Amino acid sequence: MNWLFGFCLLSDSEFSKGFDYIIKNLAKFTRSVGISYAFDRRYWYFYPRVLTHLATKSMYYNSIIETIGDTPLIKLNKLNEGIEGTILAKVEYFNPGNSVKDRIAIKMVEDAEKDGRLRPGGTIIEGTSGNTGMGLALAAVAKGYKCIFTLADKQSQEKIDILRAVGAEVIVCPTNVPPEDPRSYYSVAKKYNETIPNSFYPNQYDNLSNTAAHYETTGPEIWKQTEGKITHFAAGVGTGGTISGTSRYLKEQNADIFTLGIDTYGSVFKKYKETGEFDEKEVFPYLTEGIGEDILPKNVDFDLIDEFIKVTDKDAAIMARRLAREEGLFIGWSCGSAMHGALRWARKNLKKDDLMVVLLPDHGTRYLGKIYNDSWMKDHG
Ligand SMILES: Cc1ncc(COP(=O)(O)O)c(C=O)c1O
Repeated sequence: MNWLFGFCLLSDSEFSKGFDYIIKNLAKFTRSVGISYAFDRRYWYFYPRVLTHLATKSMYYNSIIETIGDTPLIKLNKLNEGIEGTILAKVEYFNPGNSVKDRIAIKMVEDAEKDGRLRPGGTIIEGTSGNTGMGLALAAVAKGYKCIFTLADKQSQEKIDILRAVGAEVIVCPTNVPPEDPRSYYSVAKKYNETIPNSFYPNQYDNLSNTAAHYETTGPEIWKQTEGKITHFAAGVGTGGTISGTSRYLKEQNADIFTLGIDTYGSVFKKYKETGEFDEKEVFPYLTEGIGEDILPKNVDFDLIDEFIKVTDKDAAIMARRLAREEGLFIGWSCGSAMHGALRWARKNLKKDDLMVVLLPDHGTRYLGKIYNDSWMKDHG
């Protein structure tokens, strides 16, 4: 048993040198350790470390999809100036596909496998603003499916290139046509699904596995990471899965948690929440990618969103660039929307002991040719 108690006395730096190092030096560690330690309460604290270490000695993942989730919460230190309370960013670019959408992609695929909608050798077809495509493509590579994605032509070239790099077929469709137009990326995806045998159309807008993924992962992570101290949650709303699933979990733990939805100018959400009216006059083209809609996806649960705030393309782009330069968070455009909206709201409403988590969905590399490009920024005012 002495070796076990020897383990218990290792310092953190010795532990961090790895299992092989510890085995090689076991004699050294155990020499000075007597069986009497077993009866010394001071050392009981260390025993769980030994068990954890032994349980994790084969520290690798079986495929890329096992690395999804458990993204960090990072405190804002500069952009929160003048705001009472704490602002934490849930930084989703730490997922393997560099976005929050990895979480829903694997859940939609595995739920479809379970009930037979997706069978071996099948093709995954999706209308995506890019990030869901990346998550689906990773799941497809790991599990052996083909992928076809339709995208609106306003999406960054980087997103298109990335999807092609991981083996997907990408079809670019016009942005400025209504969703029911046969040329829209929604309609083209549906048409492919109807004509290609053994194809699966996840439809992230209306597929409730999307909300379930966040209920099962994002919500519990935030609750645990804040030790239940979260008082406010803010996120951009596109399909609605992130905000609905995460809020549902958080509000089940503490019904007082306030949820702020971030919308864009050109989208129907805010007005619909406030008046119950689906107002087509609210719809016009905008540039921010991933949030705001001209439809009401089934994944948006308006009862779980306490308030919406709208953010312009320009404010979102400026905030994204500030997050990169002032906080070291090199994030995507809609992250700028989420943070701009959240900080504007927090400046007026957040109290000293409040803790707001703002979810940042993706990485800045996808916008290098747009908001991180000075001439593009000048050209777009
Ligand atoms: C970049 C980006 N931000 C935000 C969102 C919004 O998240 P959700 O679709 O869960 O509402 C999306 C969704 O497509 C996105 O791609």
